[in-house]
Amino acid sequence: MKMAFLFINAILIASLATLAYASDPSPLQDFCVAVNDANATVFVNGKICKNPNKVVAEDFFFSGLNKPGNTSNAVGSRVTAVNVNQIPGLNTLGISLVRIDYAPYGLNSPHTHPRATEILVVIEGTLYVGFVTSNPANPNLRNKLFTKYLYPGDVFVFPEGLIHFQLNVEKTNAVAFAGLSSQNPGVLTIANAVFGSYPPINPAVLTKAFQVEKNVIDQLQAQF
Ligand SMILES: *[C@@H]1O[C@H](CO)[C@@H](O)[C@H](O)[C@H]1NC(C)=O
Ligand SMILES: *[C@@H]1O[C@H](CO)[C@@H](O)[C@H](O)[C@H]1NC(C)=O
Repeated sequence: MKMAFLFINAILIASLATLAYASDPSPLQDFCVAVNDANATVFVNGKICKNPNKVVAEDFFFSGLNKPGNTSNAVGSRVTAVNVNQIPGLNTLGISLVRIDYAPYGLNSPHTHPRATEILVVIEGTLYVGFVTSNPANPNLRNKLFTKYLYPGDVFVFPEGLIHFQLNVEKTNAVAFAGLSSQNPGVLTIANAVFGSYPPINPAVLTKAFQVEKNVIDQLQAQF
């Protein structure tokens, strides 16, 4: 009886531990400021800790997020990231920040963060935002699109791993800030990854996947 109970407990704990791997692990100390070692040959899940006696306030500091990002590019948006690569003190803490600037009608293209949920607040302008669900068995939730128009002060959440976007729908600039639940959320921009990979994906794969003629795929691959 007791053995069976322990066995079930072990399975429960193992399954919970597996779930937890989807996000940043919890820290095992107050902080683990990332050491900047260009020659590191030891790879851990995160970055190696600096000697805590040598940690200073600057390790937890970043300045400049008041400055707009340069939106002169094909999509008219710019993400300025403040993650563990900008603030070494974020190492192991499971959180980061971005500023997003949008030119008039600028787009933050459909993308995913493989390791983070995002919570976004609009500071200036009007954004049309949305995300699409994955392909669960429940047909009512399969690739379902959730969208919203956001105005200054509005907050919206993009769940971890799901494809999402933001479009500035006005002829003026827009600005948003977002928190992300990883020290290193990662970003995978769908168009660039699928049509702009290096080397390119064989068009035989893409013509069938997108159900179009090869000339359409050639045109898309030429764009990215
Ligand atoms: C990295 O290795 C190179 C070549 O061995 C050396 O010159 C350099 O000083 C090292 N850098 C650090 C930060 O240790
Ligand atoms: C913004 O980016 C464009 C394109 O790369 C560049 O030509 C321009 O000089 C940049 N503007 C500023 C203020 O850095």
